[in-house]
Amino acid sequence: GSILDIALANGIDIDHSCGGVCACSTCHCIVREGDNTLSEMSDAEDYQLSNAPGLTLKSRLSCQAVPDGTRNLVVEIPSWNRNAVREGH
Ligand code: FES
Repeated sequence: GSILDIALANGIDIDHSCGGVCACSTCHCIVREGDNTLSEMSDAEDYQLSNAPGLTLKSRLSCQAVPDGTRNLVVEIPSWNRNAVREGH
């Protein structure tokens, strides 16, 4: 599954307004390590991601980035997205 799927399955509630269909940018995350094991970015993801605040070179939409499982990832959830995490706990 995607980073979002994995996070949700492990009780980490990344905001995902569109439900994970690449129609928003609320699931923006920054992949600090292991980003070379992720699925390639589609044009649709690239387009949506360009609306995300605080964009970095390691930014991805967590609902679209699918790791191949060969390495652990270090994923940062941007602070403006952490409210959802706090509300969830
Ligand atoms: Fe909307 Fe990922 S949840 S683009």
